[in-house]
Amino acid sequence: MKKRIFSGIQPSGALHIGNYLGAIRQWVQTQDKSDSLFCVVDLHAITVPQDPKELHQNIRELAAIYFAAGIDPDKSTVFVQSQVPEHSELAWILNCFIPMGWMQRMTQFKDKSAKKKQFSIGLFDYPALMAADILLYQTDAVPVGEDQKQHVELTRDIAEMINSKYGDVFKIPEPVIPKTGARIMGLDDPTVKMAKSAEKPSRSIYIMDEPDVIKKKIARATTDSETEICFDQNRPGVNNLLTIYQLCSGKTQKDIEAHFQGKQYSDLKRELTDVVVDKLTPIREEATKILKDKKALDDMLLKGAEKARGLAAPTMNKVKAAIGLG
Ligand code: TYM
Repeated sequence: MKKRIFSGIQPSGALHIGNYLGAIRQWVQTQDKSDSLFCVVDLHAITVPQDPKELHQNIRELAAIYFAAGIDPDKSTVFVQSQVPEHSELAWILNCFIPMGWMQRMTQFKDKSAKKKQFSIGLFDYPALMAADILLYQTDAVPVGEDQKQHVELTRDIAEMINSKYGDVFKIPEPVIPKTGARIMGLDDPTVKMAKSAEKPSRSIYIMDEPDVIKKKIARATTDSETEICFDQNRPGVNNLLTIYQLCSGKTQKDIEAHFQGKQYSDLKRELTDVVVDKLTPIREEATKILKDKKALDDMLLKGAEKARGLAAPTMNKVKAAIGLG
């Protein structure tokens, strides 16, 4: 039997090249040999305030980028989380079993809440919804970037806890984190990760950025005062640019270092711009085309949601029967 894969991205802002290199790229590679579900996790996005119009637009744009980047609706199930109510239903049930202390340990919540005067219960509860997303489909593997590892590990703990009380209810999922590209850093500050937030547009290369914007952002990217161009964790700026170059060009680290030997940062930045533009332009153009036909996109997503509901139903029945509901 094919492996079941589940992953998702929040439509909480513009998708960036870190999301592509850390997550979507893996999804495209895995869809031929697995039974995959890829979700636009809009219920996660509303854990922080959203403008309704912008959110609506972001949901559609994210779905269009999934398809444009190579997710094939004939091979994978692509859908919007809020169109499958079983996600919220299972999240509530899990909430009633997860010890408070497990959630309090989540570093992403600590980081996000520390920056806010006020935050919702949803922000705190976010990992329970993520666990529901994964467990609902008896998922084997969850391809994500480094920052989501702790949430997938929590999901495993939740599944093991429920299974130990009620028998074999859930499959125990594995996180799948790429060796390279799992943590793409900010262009302006390579000590923080690239992020969707619109506050610092110079930090991120967005998938929908036009070539001249990409060129400017890379030209301004932070490097250092050294001269040699090589992969070195202790030189985060150059290392990050080289990592993006490696993943977009498909070349090996050795070949890249040989290629840039004796060259300058300005050469690296120029060539990096070329490979990034080559990689993103077809995706941006195809996504723009998909977004123009509103009905076709809506229909594809509705079809995906119907399929997902069919796959979710047996798990919901199993969970309810196990705990005595229904
Ligand atoms: P989100 O929307 O923050 O990010 C989507 C995916 O992109 C990866 N990612 C990165 N990878 C490399 N470098 C970066 N700078 C970078 N930033 C983000 C993330 O690791 C993720 O794989 N909680 C999840 C969404 C989610 C989910 C799920 C994922 C909800 N339910 C179930 C998997 C399974 C999130 O906020 O991802």
